[in-house]
Amino acid sequence: MTSANTASTSSNPLSFPAGFTWGTATAAHQVEGNNWNNDWWEWEHRVGTRAKEPSGDTCDHYNLFPQDIAMLAKLGFDNYRFSVEWSRIEPEDGEFSQAEINHYRKVLEACHEHNITPVVTLHHFTTPRWVTARGGWVNDSTADLFARFSEKVAKSLGDGVGKWCTINEPNMVSTIGYLLGEFPPGTKSREARAKANEVFCQAHIKARDAVKSISSAPLGVTLAMQEYTISVDDESHRKAAEGKRDMAWDGLEDCFLEVAKGDDYFGVQTYTRERFNENGRMQPDADMRTTIMGYEFRPQALEACIRRAWDKTGHVPIIVTENGIATSDDNERIEYVHGALEGVLNCIQDGIDIRGYTYWSLMDNFEWMYGYGPTFGIVAVDWKTQVRTPRPSASWLGRIARANTLLPRNA
Ligand code: BGC
Repeated sequence: MTSANTASTSSNPLSFPAGFTWGTATAAHQVEGNNWNNDWWEWEHRVGTRAKEPSGDTCDHYNLFPQDIAMLAKLGFDNYRFSVEWSRIEPEDGEFSQAEINHYRKVLEACHEHNITPVVTLHHFTTPRWVTARGGWVNDSTADLFARFSEKVAKSLGDGVGKWCTINEPNMVSTIGYLLGEFPPGTKSREARAKANEVFCQAHIKARDAVKSISSAPLGVTLAMQEYTISVDDESHRKAAEGKRDMAWDGLEDCFLEVAKGDDYFGVQTYTRERFNENGRMQPDADMRTTIMGYEFRPQALEACIRRAWDKTGHVPIIVTENGIATSDDNERIEYVHGALEGVLNCIQDGIDIRGYTYWSLMDNFEWMYGYGPTFGIVAVDWKTQVRTPRPSASWLGRIARANTLLPRNA
């Protein structure tokens, strides 16, 4: 991306810049259903993991994508961020499925039919079983395998893709999967986390080179970013708290923010704030408002993360590729998004080049370890009938998208 998009074209301080994009996001494993050939399916079924329940059919988006894409267009959005499932397209080493490529071509066509720009993620948490059997993300050769897969996708589908995201939140896979042991592969080792970060960075660089040699669509990586604060009353404890940085800045994002300097955009994904004291990460205080995920209710976190990403990438244009809340109260969702968008506007006023906002998620779906409990969707799903019901937040955010202006919470 070359042209700056920071200046609001209107004198209305609540307006977003011309060309600002509005979307919702999903990920293959969370919505398609029956992605049995990847590490997550295996993890959901393995005795002894903390995965609450199997993903099963989830939203059956694999079959219902035409109506889902029509729905999001009707609501007023102009782009759809989704992922292609590596374990479907390349079910075994070097064996590519033309039928699955054709499937994703139909998804792209459905987007174009409704004037929706497809934002395609090449890796969203799930890895084919045959790749994990070879060591997964701590094996250097996985970066090459991922680049080969990315090249295949770019060659087969690239002409229909509006934007690329190579890897979704590699920092979550490396930290939760290789340090905390709660995502597959369930490893608990500092060295493994450091190695996984390194292999993911290589994978991003190699996939970027492969895709950019074929497709001119803008490309970036996305990171899970929290607002971080160090809460110490006693200055003598500050040093100890600073020592816990590997659960935040140092281990969770710095290497990726560095690698992203060569990208067309950077994807910020923020849900909450994390506070640290001399003992490490703090739980939210008892009197703090929290979400279904147990996170502090903190819409302001997005602004803090955009500012950090902008500074640390040396001003790579930003897209908010995920932001959202799991709540059973849709008014609370509107309050959260309204607060987050106020932060986006503050950043734009300060000259930060932000090019879009993407709500996570289009619809309720399989929330990894937590299964079907957390409801992030602006659209509710009936798990028996697969009937979709847009919540008031869906039409509210759709109206904002159409107006390209922040509207009041009751609009
Ligand atoms: C992930 C999504 C997830 C969402 C809500 C992000 O970390 O990219 O897959 O569902 O957060 O927890």
